[in-house]
Amino acid sequence: MLNIIKTSSEDHFNETGAGIIASLLQSNPRAILGLATGSTPVGVYGKLIELYRKGSVSFKQATTYNLDEYIGLPADHPESYRRFMDEKLFNHIDILPENTHVPSGVEADPQKAAEDYSRLLDEAGQIDLQLLGLGHNGHIGFNEPGEELQGPPHIVKLDERTRLANARFFNSIEEVPTHAITMGIGSILHAKQILLMAKGEDKAEVIARALKGPITTKCPATFLQTHSNVVVVVDQAAGKWL
Ligand code: GLP
Repeated sequence: MLNIIKTSSEDHFNETGAGIIASLLQSNPRAILGLATGSTPVGVYGKLIELYRKGSVSFKQATTYNLDEYIGLPADHPESYRRFMDEKLFNHIDILPENTHVPSGVEADPQKAAEDYSRLLDEAGQIDLQLLGLGHNGHIGFNEPGEELQGPPHIVKLDERTRLANARFFNSIEEVPTHAITMGIGSILHAKQILLMAKGEDKAEVIARALKGPITTKCPATFLQTHSNVVVVVDQAAGKWL
């Protein structure tokens, strides 16, 4: 089932995303959440923090698994996804630090780090809700377009377009890591529910392609069409062709 929610303002967009996550935690406090980085979920995390402060939601029994991490960035690097999650969400809520998981970007053997993350996910069981943003080239997590996709967590070489898009967070494009560890398409599709969020005119074409175009490895997000429970939250600009 594909449920598309078109929101009317930035606030409405963030509240809608946060509301879906909060309702899940209210009905299942032990929920396993798959979380995402990027600019799209930042406001959603802000709303979740507000809901936590109001006493409407608790993360005390929840567990989280993030989609991806840059290879080569230590956890305390300003642009590491571990640091992003700590600063944008985890440090402001009652989640137990040991229940938050982000792949390690600094293992001497990145391949082993990907395998360790894969094992961790297998042991966790099924993610209840996987939050996703969407790359301009149709990537989800860091599953980049190509001739083939991989199911389990793995190492990826980042697309130049992805590095360019993320260069805004670094001093220069040279500083953007060239590789990352990401959950695979299989890990993502294994979640019980997927919450895909996109905002802005620059995402209109890719989200239409993701949801309505032919399923192809050239646009990894098209594989979401094979999942039975996807909720899509967009703003008016991103949703104009939906
Ligand atoms: C990044 C992340 C993705 C994210 C995407 C879009 O590279 N690895 O998980 O969804 O790009 O980012 P944004 O939300 O900033 O547009």
